[in-house]
Order: sequence, then structure tokens, then C-alpha cells
Amino acid sequence: MGLRCNPMTCLYKNLPCFGLPAMTTFTTPKFFMASALPSTSKEDETLKRHFVPPREVHAQVTHSMPQQKIEIFKSLEDWAEKNFLIYLKPVEKCWQPQDFLPDPTSDGFGEQVKELRERAKEIPDDYFVVLIGDMITEEALPTYQQMLNSAEEIRDETGGSLTPWAIWTRAWTAEENRHGDLLNKYLHLSGRVDMRQIEKTIQYLIGSGMDPGTEKNPYLGLIYTSFQERATFISHGNSARLAKKHGDINLAQICGSIASDEKRHGTAYTKVVEKLFEIDPDGTLLAFADMMRKKISMPGHLMYDGRDDNLFDHFSAVAQRIGVYTAKDYADILEFLVERWKVKELTGLSADGRQAQDYVCGLPPRIRRLEERAQGRARQAPSIPFSWIFDREVQL
Ligand SMILES: [Fe+2]
Ligand SMILES: [Fe+2]
Repeated sequence: MGLRCNPMTCLYKNLPCFGLPAMTTFTTPKFFMASALPSTSKEDETLKRHFVPPREVHAQVTHSMPQQKIEIFKSLEDWAEKNFLIYLKPVEKCWQPQDFLPDPTSDGFGEQVKELRERAKEIPDDYFVVLIGDMITEEALPTYQQMLNSAEEIRDETGGSLTPWAIWTRAWTAEENRHGDLLNKYLHLSGRVDMRQIEKTIQYLIGSGMDPGTEKNPYLGLIYTSFQERATFISHGNSARLAKKHGDINLAQICGSIASDEKRHGTAYTKVVEKLFEIDPDGTLLAFADMMRKKISMPGHLMYDGRDDNLFDHFSAVAQRIGVYTAKDYADILEFLVERWKVKELTGLSADGRQAQDYVCGLPPRIRRLEERAQGRARQAPSIPFSWIFDREVQL
């Protein structure tokens, strides 16, 4: 998974618009419910902000799956065996991080590392900030597996369950694990970044979790993951394109290989939701509209490095400016899903369903108009220091 804000509430002109901004949200009255615990000092307050689960971010509902829908997932197991698991790749056919990295057993290891570092010298700081943010997001994988396992209908009951949903979740996690691993090792070897600050950010992020607003509801969870996997496919794909532009073919291959995994994952989740639309069009459409009203918050939205309370917003702003993941991408993904799930063509809907249909179909052009207006009002964004690159300044 990977990465990002809401066109209506962007702090900076170029902040991509995906859901909830990071720590700035915490100053809202809602969040202060989390801070309603006894507090002795400002320091305690800050600590709590980074360890108390963000349960107020969406005024969270913990279980919204209606009883009558639960059976739908049971009845889909045979279908999932044949149509969902085919999108997993056998381990023997998967790339591994070592395929793209200097070989520590070779005599040429030192030379290979030197070459990697020479190439990395040509890459600008803003690119590194975005690659680091993406790597940190990938590294918070325990949170995403936990999210998939929160929905009772598809969860891995034993840790080794043989339902297709559980098999998928474990194998998907195992595939995803290679993403953070590869980017982490590459960044470590590049010599351009403050690994300790990055490692702290990963620890904070896993400790904070996330608030995707999926309410232990597999409809919401699968719509969220369909969106999110496509978002990571686009962002890693753009990182590959820019790495090539900066003359680093090896890094382009790294990002491109990750992007192709994300595309396959996105196709798989989108297929399941397509099936849900087939058997329960009204319920699936209501879930889709619900998810989009809440906005898709990015998995790393609670990112913190021990210094910058708005780190996620800042990282997202740079990603938007250099074109790795933008508000336009958000609208494009939504449009893609609306078409893929044939939302416009759905008939026989309830009154609520028709309302949801109008809302979802009208959303991409609305987001694009808001983004164009925001661009029109844009002012020169400031440059700020990022601890990940030894406090060198990067323009937002
Ligand atoms: Fe990933
Ligand atoms: Fe993925």
C-alpha cells in the first residue's frame, strides 16, 4: 500500500487530496476526545497524540456490517478460490529484493555499492523525500494486515486458516513485505538519507496505526483496498518514471517492479468488489459512496518523525508537486473504479442507491474543478527541513 488529502481542506496549494491530513486534524474538537485522558504537561499531551489510537478521526464505527450481508461472504468462498487467489504469484516466480541490490557475497560488492551511490548523487532531495515517505508507508505493513483481519467475514481466524480470504491475506502480506524491504535496503545503501530518523518514523507509524474508516466491514475494506492498491500502483509507477529521468535505471526497475505487484493486487480487490456489485448492487454502491464521502485516507496518514507534527501533509505536498501522486490521480482512480464497476449503468436501485449513484458519478469532475480552482489560487509554497534528509530544505 503506500501513500495521501482532501481538495476541500488542503493546507497548501499543492497538497494532494486524499482524505484526512495527518496531525493537523488532531487539533479539531473531535480529536480532543482522545486527549481527554488526564494530562499533566504539554509533553505528555504530545506523547499521547502519537500513541493513542486515532479513534476519533472518523468518529469511528466499529462494526457496520448488517447481519443479513454476512452470509454473502460465506457463499463467495468457492468463487474466491477460483477467481481471487489466481492473482497471487507463486513465491518461486516472484522477484526478491536481492535481485536489484548489490550482492554481499560477491567480490564486486564494494564496487556495486559505489555505483549505486554515484547514481543516487544525481537524484534531487525532493525525490528522496517522496521515496522515503513511500518506503515508510510500505514498512507499516502490520497495520494493513491487521486492517484486513478486522473484518470477521474474511479474517484469518487461526493465523493459518484455509479459507480463501485468509490464504489471500497472508500471501498478500508476504508479497507486500518485499516492497518496504527493497526500498529500505536501497535507501540504506544510497548514503543520502538519515536512516535513524526514518527508522524512528516507521516505529511511530506502526505504533499509531491508521484510521481507514472501514468499520470492520468487508464491503468498505475491499473498496478501500481497491482504491489504495491502484494509488500505490500509480505512485510507484511515477517514481519509476522520475528515477529514469534522473538517470537511475536500477532505481526505475525497483519502483517499476513494486508498481507491477500493486497493479495485480488492485486488479484482484477490484474483481471481488465487481462480484459484490453483481450480487448486491445496492449494498455495494452504498458502501462505495460511504467510503468516498469519508475520503480515502492514505495508510501513512498518521506519520510522525518525533519532530514535524504535519509530516504527512508535508510529504504529500512534495509528492503532489513532483508528480508522484496528485489530486488528479485521486480523481482518475475514482473515475476508473466507477467505470470498472459500471456504476452508471446500475438499475433497479433503491432511492438511497440512486442518490449514491449520482454522488459517486458526479464526484470525479467535482474534484477536478476544485483542484483547478485551488491551482488558480496557488501561492509559492515554502521550503521546509525534512529530518529524513538531515534537515535539508525541500519546497512543498
Ligand atoms: Fe506495496
Ligand atoms: Fe499492494
